[in-house]
Parts: sequence; structure tokens; C-alpha cells
Amino acid sequence: MCGIVGYVGGKEAYPIIIKGLKRLEYRGYDSAGVSIGNTKGIALLKQKGKVSDLEAYTEGREKSGSIGIGHTRWATHGVPNQVNAHPHLSGDGKLSLIHNGIIENYDSIKKALQSKGHIFNSDTDTEVLIHLIENIKNHEQVNLFESVRIALSEVIGAYAIVVMEEGVNNEFIAARKGSPLVIGVGRDEYYIASDASPIIEYTNEVVYLEDGEIARVNCEEVLEIKTITNKIITPYIQELKLSLDTIEKGGFSHFMLKEIYEQPKSILDTMRGRIDTESKEIKLGGISDYEQKIINADRIIIVACGTSWHAGLIGEYLLEDLARIPVEVEYASEFRYRNPIIRETDVVLAISQSGETADTLAALALAKQKGATVLGICNVVGSSIPRLTDGGIYTHAGPEIGVASTKAFTTQVVVLTLMSLRIAKQKGTLSNTNYHQLITQLELIPEKVERVLQTNDQIEKIAKQFKDVSNFLYLGRGYNFPVALEGALKLKEISYIHAEGYPAAEMKHGPIALIDADMPIVVIATKKGNYEKILSNIQEVKSRGGRLIAIVTEGDKTVKELADYCIEIPNCFEELTPLLSNIPLQLLSYHIALMRGCNVDQPRNLAKSVTVE
Ligand code: M6R
Repeated sequence: MCGIVGYVGGKEAYPIIIKGLKRLEYRGYDSAGVSIGNTKGIALLKQKGKVSDLEAYTEGREKSGSIGIGHTRWATHGVPNQVNAHPHLSGDGKLSLIHNGIIENYDSIKKALQSKGHIFNSDTDTEVLIHLIENIKNHEQVNLFESVRIALSEVIGAYAIVVMEEGVNNEFIAARKGSPLVIGVGRDEYYIASDASPIIEYTNEVVYLEDGEIARVNCEEVLEIKTITNKIITPYIQELKLSLDTIEKGGFSHFMLKEIYEQPKSILDTMRGRIDTESKEIKLGGISDYEQKIINADRIIIVACGTSWHAGLIGEYLLEDLARIPVEVEYASEFRYRNPIIRETDVVLAISQSGETADTLAALALAKQKGATVLGICNVVGSSIPRLTDGGIYTHAGPEIGVASTKAFTTQVVVLTLMSLRIAKQKGTLSNTNYHQLITQLELIPEKVERVLQTNDQIEKIAKQFKDVSNFLYLGRGYNFPVALEGALKLKEISYIHAEGYPAAEMKHGPIALIDADMPIVVIATKKGNYEKILSNIQEVKSRGGRLIAIVTEGDKTVKELADYCIEIPNCFEELTPLLSNIPLQLLSYHIALMRGCNVDQPRNLAKSVTVE
């Protein structure tokens, strides 16, 4: 949450920062601001709303200078307005700070500073931090680098910060703990950002700042890094493997739509190099050292949030079904605080697109501390979760920028399928024939997803019929139950229509009371597993006047006679159905949200990576 960009070098900073903020806007978009340093001082410009509102506000105002920092905010402390927007200034206006994260002990620090005469203008924890740095700098007579280091040793919480000083136009100070920061290394210039997307068009040499590290970024000198405990660190420059076109819309009207359409390719990328073409053996290098641990594990505990948690549920079905290992799927936020029993024989698997979700990260840290083997399935390479885990598997879905997760979900499910198949094979819980059939079918999935995407026009027409309703119910059984949950989440987060996902058989234990002609029901009724049973559920809905949209297997005639609308998906093995049945639900949410005039890529109150609790 919150996006950070900074530049120091020979170019004009403002355009670089604005462009970078637009790339990071998925992280928060309730207000934005910049501080630009020049010979006259620091020009501070901030505005409520999106980066485009900031741009309009800065039109005609002084903003030249070759050093600058910028921020796009997702509010935690204080309502989204111009005063609470970042950057924040020290009391004397000489220091300027941007911050992503939460300073938990800000209140006690604020009171102590107030007793020393500090006056605060905003409701933010961030303003407290810059006053603290100022106070240390003035009283201890140390430079900014040291002031920041001392201040951070007094701070409890999570942060990625960048601080600049009036009159010092060649240098800023950056630090991180719990929130990401990457430094782009150019020739006589540096960039800094919450992720690499604002940096990639300028340099592919980057340094990922580690937790507890603080950097002096001076465009005339080499990068200087130390820990908050004052230990010198040698910067490790890595090559970025990100291309510009993957972070642009590429002709699509929204990132979400682009990412839905990318799924055939991203699924292929997830499988690439992991299935031997001849022998069909699956190779998962990132977890191979822990394979025996997984095979012998008493249980696997999957921790995740939101969409990744839904993928985790499918993982539970797969791992138990194919590899016969007991699996528990936990909301990371509950797991970390409920004193869970974690044993050394447990394998704890975190699933996260961003690799930065605060609750998932904390749940994983707890498991690690208790001696469990910790593994991860993440998309963002080099993010915090992969750096904490013993081993893991990247999804390689490519950057996902739409706040609503789409290709991240399908690729997480692909990784879970590969992992379940590999473990099942090694453990001997799956016959060779079944193993080979499943792999062969899995390899056909990208082409089948292409076919599902061809139903887009039909789905758009269906969306027109339902765009004005207030509630939706999603039903599924077996492997399609998590798909129902995911479909409902997708609809509510981008269209603001209340939607609930339910296991179809649970309907008669409560939700059936809601069914009438105003309550549309999406039912996933593919021809495997519990097909007959779901037919009964459909009958129950129909006899109460409910309007039905059904996801069915190509050629299905029975459901077609009952449902108001049917969307066909290609036939496939039950274990692989979620990879197909989920796609029409993504498209349905997309079209409904668009027709309701919602901001599909940046839904209200949300942010792409939830780096605060
Ligand atoms: O980056 P993560 O996968 O850890 O994120 C978890 C959730 O915040 C995320 O899936 C969220 O639910 C999405 N907005 C859903 O589309």
C-alpha cells in the first residue's frame, strides 16, 4: 500500500516521478504528492485524488529540479485529503519524507515531541517520523543519514521511507523494514521505488534494500548501505528481468482485461521448463531440497489472504486428493494471532501474488520461528515472502497491475497442481496412468482457456441483464466451491455489488431464504464430480424463482433447460476445472463493473498489495 518514487541525478525529476507514480498507482490512489529540490529550496506539491489530479494541480507551478520524491497514498492514519497526503515536512520545512507502512508507536513519539514544542499539521504517523528525525538531527548534531538511522531505531512498525533535505540536491536517504524498496542504479543517477516498474525504462541494474537497511543515495558517489544497527553492507546489484510492455496496457482498455486475456500465456509461462517434454517428469527446483519434508509432513498448512487464499483452498483439494497429505488452509491474519499449534514436522506454505502481504508475511515468520519448513508460491520475484522462505515456486505470471487478481490466481492454481502431481508421483499415491493423463490434460489448458475467452461477447450480453442488481449468490461444489468464492470476491471488489460464494449444498442451510427473482445465482455446474447433486441445487433455485447463470461443460443439455443463461467451457478433468470455470466469472465481474461506471483497475478503498495489517 502506498507507492514511493524518487530520483536524483542530472535529469528533471518531476516527469520521472509523475510517470513512476502512475505505474505505482495500483498501490494506493486516494492522494498523491511530490517534493522537488532545487536551488530555491523544496517545492512541495500535493493533492487529494489520483496522480492525474496532482498533475493538474501542479500545472503552472514551480517544480523544476533534479532531485525529487513522490508518493501515492492509501490512507491508514488520517482521512485522504491534501494535508494528510505525502510528502510531509519537518517543523522547519527543511526535511521532506515519504512513507509506506505504519509507525505503530507514533502516538507516544508525537506526545514526547509535542512536549518539546513540535506542532503537527496532519493526522499522520508519517509527519511524526519526520519531526522525530528533525529533532535528532538538531539535538545530536549529526547528518541526515545518521539522524534517520537513530530515529528508526526508536520506531516500532513497518516502513519504506525516503527523506530529502533542503539545499542538498545530490542525495536522499532511504530505509526499509517490512515494506519494499528497490534502488535503480544509473550512470551518475539513482532511482528508487516501491517496485521496479517506475525504474525499468531507465536502468536494469537494481539493488533491493533488505529489511532493517538504510541507504545514502548520492548521485556523485557509490551507494552506501548500512543496517539500522550500524553494520556496513556491500550493495548487491542485480539485473532486472522485467520488460516495459508487460507493465503497460498494450491496447486493452484496462489492466484487468489485459491480464484476463494474458492467462493462456501466463499459464504456459508457469509451466515452462517444469514439465519434461519426453518423460513428463515435473521439476520444481525451488522446492526440490524440501521434497522429502513435504512427503513426510504431518500436514501442510497453507496461509494466504483474499484471492490467494481461494487458490490455497484448491491446493487443499489437490494435495489431499492426489498426494494424500492432510492440508489446512488458514487466513494468514487469523493464523498469526490465534496461537496456532505449529510443529517442526509441518510444512507451512504461503501463497501471495505480491509477496508483500503483511499478514501472510507475519504468519510465515511465526511458522519459521516455531521451526516449521516454510515455503512460498509468489509472483513478484525478490519480494519479501520469497526472501523469508526456505524454498518456493514462482508463478511467473508477469506483473499483475489490476487490483483485482486474475492471472495470479490461475497461475497459483497451476503451481499447486504441478506441486501436487510431483509429490503424488514421488509418494506413489497416483498411478502412472493417472499421472500422465493429468499432465497431458494440464498441457492442454492454455488452449482451452483461449476458447473460454471467446465467450467474452456472450458474457458481456449477460452482464447487461444483471448490472443493476444489488446481490449475487455464487454456488459451486468440490473443486468449484473455491471458484464460487473467488467469483463472488471479484464481483464485489470491482462492482460494489454484494456477492456471496457458497458450497452449493450449504444453500439450504440458510442462503436459500434469500432466493427470489431479484437474486441472481451463478452456479458452476460442470460435468464432473458432483454434477447430479448440483442439478438438484439448480432445481431448488428454480423452484423459488431465482435467475440462474450457469457455467457448464460444452454440450451440456440438462442444465441448459433449467438455467436462464449458460456459458460453456471445454471438457476437462475435474481437478483442472477451476482453471477454466474461473475465467467466465472474471469476465462477468469485469463487464458488470464497467457498465456500472466503476474504476475496474483501481476499485475504491482497495490497494494491490496490503502491506499493513
Ligand atoms: O498479494 P497477495 O496475493 O498476498 O494479496 C492477497 C489479497 O490482498 C488479494 O488477493 C486481494 O484479495 C485481491 N484484491 C483480490 O482480487
